[in-house]
Amino acid sequence: MSDIGAIVRDIAREMAAVAQRGRVADYIPPLAEVDPARFGIAVVEADGACHLAGDADMPFSIQSVSKVFSLTLALGKVGDALWQRVGREPSGSAFNSIVQLETESGIPRNPFINAGAIVVSDVVLAGHQPREAIAEILRFTRALAGDDAIFVDEHVAQAEQGTGFRNAALANYMRAFGNLRHPVEQALGVYFHQCAIAMSCRQLALAGRYLMLAGRSPATGGSVISAARARRINALMMTCGHYDGSGEFAYRVGLPGKSGVGGGILAIAPARASIAVWSPGLNERGNSEIGTIALERLVQRTGWSVFGPSY
Ligand code: DON
Repeated sequence: MSDIGAIVRDIAREMAAVAQRGRVADYIPPLAEVDPARFGIAVVEADGACHLAGDADMPFSIQSVSKVFSLTLALGKVGDALWQRVGREPSGSAFNSIVQLETESGIPRNPFINAGAIVVSDVVLAGHQPREAIAEILRFTRALAGDDAIFVDEHVAQAEQGTGFRNAALANYMRAFGNLRHPVEQALGVYFHQCAIAMSCRQLALAGRYLMLAGRSPATGGSVISAARARRINALMMTCGHYDGSGEFAYRVGLPGKSGVGGGILAIAPARASIAVWSPGLNERGNSEIGTIALERLVQRTGWSVFGPSY
């Protein structure tokens, strides 16, 4: 098989030359200031080999990629009872859509759309002050990556607090249906802060290792979750991780993946690699334009798609 390090470096070189880089998210002001020319990639293989290229060590706002870590925590707390409050079906709608909540009685379609992630925040809040819940998510993310330098960008969290009217609408709507147990401001505070976690591609790929290794994390030296749960989180990432672009991502890349409006994507090649890419320009569905192209090329050259090789 091919030299993964060389493939990763080639892809970074190719991505630097792509002219159409998508549009940087501007509805959270600090995200609009990020240079669209940035591109980073990190691939951590099952044997621990780590391949980096481009801006792989530059922290960026992980935004919705954080929903993978908070979901993992929430499942650890309440187990399958979570599925009484959140569904497991793709929504076919935008990440911040409210339309299905009306007909589906305040139960979000899946834990990765904003409404679902706000319910997950509410679950993580149980028995905690909001500050403690945020600290728990950050501590968990740091432990997965084995890196205590990971931080919450307070500037991003405050900016989102100031502009998150849609998220406030989703939260209030769910509270009206009895699907939020804490005050709306508290659930939103936790949600905004987890989205404001800043990580580099290297840190993100390291944090994702438990999903490639059947729930085991080399950083913690043990099992983070069961193999069955890791497999199911991967299934949700495949079917729901890119919102109304999930089908297209499965078609083009064929890996469980979770995107964020900061332009990051965490993708998992089960038993083979944990991969993070970052480029801040987004496509029309709010997923990284160049990040998706980079992953498409990576699976073409490695044969890692879960649906079969390309050669
Ligand atoms: O709720 C929001 O709007 C953001 N904090 C996160 C959205 C996000 O990353 C959607 N992903 N593409």
